[in-house]
Amino acid sequence: MNKYLIVLLTAAAVCGATAQPREFTVDVSKPGAEIRPTMYGLFFEDINFAADGGLYGELVKNRSFEFPQRLMGWRTFGNVTLREDGPFENNPHYVRLGDSGHRHRHTGIENEGFFGIGVRAGQQYRFSVWARLPEGGGTGKVRVQLVDNSSQGERQDFVTQEIEIASADWRQYEVILTPETTNPKAALRITLAGAATVDLEHVSLFPADTWNGHRNGLRKDLAQALADLSPGVFRFPGGCIVEGTELENRYDWKKSVGPVENRPLNENRWHFTFAHRLYPDYYQSYGLGFYEYFVLSEELGAEPLPVLNCGMACQYQCSGIHDHADECDLEEFIQDALDLVEFANGPATSTWGSVRAGMGHPEPFGLKFIAIGNEQWGEEYVVRLEPFIERIRAVYPDIAIIGGSGPGSEGAEFEYLWPEMARLKVDLVDEHFYRPEQWFLSQGARYDGYDRKGPKVFAGEYACHGRGKKWNHFNAALLEAAFLTGVERNADIVHMATYAPLFAHYEGWQWRPDLIWFDNLGVVRTASYYVQQLYALNKGTHVIPVTLDGRPATGAEGQDGLFASAVLDADSGEYVVKVANTSDQVREITLAFKGLKKKALAREGTVTTLSSEDPDLENTVARPDAIVPVPTAVATDGSSLTATLAPNSFAVYRVGVE
Ligand code: AHR
Repeated sequence: MNKYLIVLLTAAAVCGATAQPREFTVDVSKPGAEIRPTMYGLFFEDINFAADGGLYGELVKNRSFEFPQRLMGWRTFGNVTLREDGPFENNPHYVRLGDSGHRHRHTGIENEGFFGIGVRAGQQYRFSVWARLPEGGGTGKVRVQLVDNSSQGERQDFVTQEIEIASADWRQYEVILTPETTNPKAALRITLAGAATVDLEHVSLFPADTWNGHRNGLRKDLAQALADLSPGVFRFPGGCIVEGTELENRYDWKKSVGPVENRPLNENRWHFTFAHRLYPDYYQSYGLGFYEYFVLSEELGAEPLPVLNCGMACQYQCSGIHDHADECDLEEFIQDALDLVEFANGPATSTWGSVRAGMGHPEPFGLKFIAIGNEQWGEEYVVRLEPFIERIRAVYPDIAIIGGSGPGSEGAEFEYLWPEMARLKVDLVDEHFYRPEQWFLSQGARYDGYDRKGPKVFAGEYACHGRGKKWNHFNAALLEAAFLTGVERNADIVHMATYAPLFAHYEGWQWRPDLIWFDNLGVVRTASYYVQQLYALNKGTHVIPVTLDGRPATGAEGQDGLFASAVLDADSGEYVVKVANTSDQVREITLAFKGLKKKALAREGTVTTLSSEDPDLENTVARPDAIVPVPTAVATDGSSLTATLAPNSFAVYRVGVE
């Protein structure tokens, strides 16, 4: 007996008789608005150790000794000194390893990684370091080891290599480590193994097998989880990180490109944003910067959507208007936006296009969107946004500009900003909603009444935050699925939707729920992930009207907690109907396809169901597949399809015609 049937039978037994069967009319004679390829996408922010310690493949923390506490993340022993006249202008610190003074004493450094260093048996890891012999002459030597400091075995080290340093000039050295055992929490130990003093800078360890094999690459399993979402748009780099606690530490894209050794460190505001979840060792290396982002967008087939600072620091954190750039002093910020477009799209001969080309991508990335400001509000935002729009339009009239509607999904700021965005003629307005269950249940018709002549909507950050249940439980995912039927039905006005945040490290999170959880070796896809994936893989090409008792199925009064949307997939010729049953009752439903003309529905289609008997259940490291979509066959009579929906379930029906 398959899992779905068991769920149905159990549900029927628990809930007893079902309510009246409900009939949905799916009018295929009227394919409506085009569904944008950008409809379902990704929101990436370096929060919860999403970049450094997460998607970015670097396994060494504070590799350039630039954290304000220069040796944070490192243990040193023997004769180690910190110096600051290194070869990289923006990262001048490095360490000097000198003779310990006794053959039984040792000099070295040891890095703890991000909550340890995760390595797998048989996989290759590329260790690299910039080094020199400061005293010249001869040959220096360092021993490089992965060690397990908690080991009760004879040895702590479980893989060892040696590197000879042969020059008084700074050079990069590299060696491959291939551990024979798997360890989620190893440390990287480097010991002076000769008599000569050695200087070390930019100490790095990457899996050799990164996503698409890139140097300075990304963790393959996490990037694969993104690819499996089939994203149409990719927002980056945030989030509040765009703004900075002060403008000084806003995300500055220009610092995130060029040779990785010379990208300066930035404070990560999430290390102190919540005093109850403090991560004092959370910084941004900018190693996953704007070049890596554009390349990844291209490889994922997603339109890049960068969000840039509008001259304002985080309004939650700043003490007043003086923390922002004066509205007459925005030139640097506006130029940053113009230069980013040039970096992405300019010819390889242009100033910033040549930087892109020098990094390995002479062809333009084809950037089409840019957002100015994240969660900004008030007149101070509007007066700053306006000159950005004028200048960007003048130079790049084809780039779509996205403005914001503040941090709330409604309320005074929201009501003020929407008309202002329409007045400024932005192309899309970014809406954010981290809201509880009741909000999601009540918003099935949210976009039905939006002005069709104004800007379009980018639902740029959203997630159901269960009241008192801030984890990725199934019910939150179900309500997101229900809400998204209204997004899909209004695809003429909602062009993009991205769940937020995207990633969280189990040992380093500041914010939850999140779409994808991970630790040093594993990945957990949440129920919300599968909702996003079901929408993205079944987004179709055109909206099809679907009604329940003559009304859109928005979970309204009298609709038994049912939400639905339908699309035509013109590429495959199939119809896709999504139905969320947010009630705790079994629901008998019929999907009656109207307007089929001479064609009939194929006798068999598929239904993919996401359900859980326990609405509080979540996927975990121990049970990553507790909630997964289950596909089964479904029969039609040529013009309709009758089905039974389990309580608390989301079903995606796909039927062709013959
Ligand atoms: O997604 C987490 C945070 O939520 C984002 O940084 C911010 O834009 C919003 O407040």
